[in-house]
Amino acid sequence: MLFDTHAHYDDARFDDDRDALLSAMPENNVGLILNPGCDVPSSRKAVSYAQKYPFMYAAVGIHPENIGADWEQALSLLRDLAQNEPKVRAIGEIGLDYYWEKDERARARQQVVFRRQMELAETLHLPVIVHDRDAHSDCLAITRQFPAVTGVYHCYAGSVEMARELLQLGYYLSFTGVITFKNARKAVEVVRATPLDRLMIETDAPYMAPEPFRGRRNSSLYVHRMAEAIAQIKGLPVEEVERVTTENGKRLFRIES
Ligand code: NI
Repeated sequence: MLFDTHAHYDDARFDDDRDALLSAMPENNVGLILNPGCDVPSSRKAVSYAQKYPFMYAAVGIHPENIGADWEQALSLLRDLAQNEPKVRAIGEIGLDYYWEKDERARARQQVVFRRQMELAETLHLPVIVHDRDAHSDCLAITRQFPAVTGVYHCYAGSVEMARELLQLGYYLSFTGVITFKNARKAVEVVRATPLDRLMIETDAPYMAPEPFRGRRNSSLYVHRMAEAIAQIKGLPVEEVERVTTENGKRLFRIES
């Protein structure tokens, strides 16, 4: 049974067939899905899917690209959701995105909002789901400031060196369809250097469809491709990768059964 630890079913690209698609997941060997939020509306939707489908869980958070002028108010709404909804299992996705944000003041604000959400995770004893795009050293610096918090770096794109430090801090590393691409040399090296009991798989649907579906709308139906890619890189049976990555996600997000 596969666990897609990161998929955005709140995206409008699922509006036409969301229920049919999600209802078919268990019979397609996708036994668990975690839907992270990127702002208040998407976090609320993530919670509503978790309420509706027994195999879905939610995270709530403000993504670095979704920081509005009212972010403090948004944060207090998300705090209420995280405290009152039992299927909210993480704060995320949160972090830094310097690929889309070049302005120094806006980057400084991303850091403030990231820190505030790390504090929230610490207070609520929840793990975090970190988005780090072209911001490796600042992300790591903020992560280090919260040694009581662990979580997962999603769609991990850093170096092997940074991966080692994150593993030491108790973090998991999660991989998308990127590891199925031909030019994925760096991610492949990280997978090789990371023990299986610290790896997770995700689709990041509707984005990042793996080979041979690249360019199409992604969904959790393709999460087996990441298990196959890791099995191939590590020379392990795919059943073992499937079983261990699912256990890892359940351990991090405290999912029983
Ligand atoms: Ni995402």
